[in-house]
Amino acid sequence: MLVCDLSSFASIETFAHAILSEYPKIDVLFNNAGVMAIPYATTQEGFEMQLGVNHIGHFKLTALLIPHFNPSARIINVSSMAHMNGTLDLKDPFFNAQPYHSFKAYAQSKLANLLFTHEFNDRMKHNDKHIIAISAHPGIAMTSLFDKVETSSFMKWMKPLFGKIIPSAKQGAKPLIMAALHPQAQANDFFGPGSFFSKEEIKTSKMSALAKDNSLQKGLWALSEQWTQHTIKEN
Ligand SMILES: NC(=O)c1ccc[n+]([C@@H]2O[C@H](COP(=O)([O-])OP(=O)(O)OC[C@H]3O[C@@H](n4cnc5c(N)ncnc54)[C@H](OP(=O)(O)O)[C@@H]3O)[C@@H](O)[C@H]2O)c1
Repeated sequence: MLVCDLSSFASIETFAHAILSEYPKIDVLFNNAGVMAIPYATTQEGFEMQLGVNHIGHFKLTALLIPHFNPSARIINVSSMAHMNGTLDLKDPFFNAQPYHSFKAYAQSKLANLLFTHEFNDRMKHNDKHIIAISAHPGIAMTSLFDKVETSSFMKWMKPLFGKIIPSAKQGAKPLIMAALHPQAQANDFFGPGSFFSKEEIKTSKMSALAKDNSLQKGLWALSEQWTQHTIKEN
């Protein structure tokens, strides 16, 4: 088994090297790993953990793997409808000046996933391999994401009840799989359940105005390049 700790640049580099020696060509990269609403923590490089793992780690991993993508490969960036509450202060993304709020940091990181998708496609629109990035979200799904939430004692108490009404992890994975496999999927699509608790229908979800904000997309990209010391190019 290959292990990747997205909160450590060294681990991401070791993992990328290992995965490429086992699988030299890649068709789909799911940038899916995530943490939600955790107490304040930092990555090994000192970035606030939720932006660090949910966005910066994936940016670095993508940069390392992309030269090995096959033609028509897809990157699936897993966001959330929580991005709707997300804002991003490019001058204070790590909550150094503003007070840390765990759900605000999560929403910011999920907004970052969408900004990343858009800017990736903008920069790569003329790439020879036709690699595209697509966003997806599971709606709400019963996974271990809720276990480390700051208010987790309430969540743990409610979990048996939630388990009965909330769609399963398998169900939540469907929009992600669809983003990877749908023959008509296009760059910047945002696949999710038809309604929040929907178990069947999957369609393109709405995204916030900030997610489509061109200057925010470019601003986050520039910072991500500085933070990771990588740019994303097809070769
Ligand atoms: N479940 C929902 O209702 C929901 C709703 C909207 C969006 N999402 C999004 O869906 C994605 C998947 O979450 P999930 O619901 O499937 O939760 P999950 O079961 O907790 O899965 C999250 C995964 O991320 C991994 N992870 C956490 N920190 C990591 C790190 N530093 N390095 C590498 N991997 C790390 C976890 O690994 P370990 O198990 O080893 O910690 C786990 O495999 C996330 O991006 C989340 O934001 C979920």
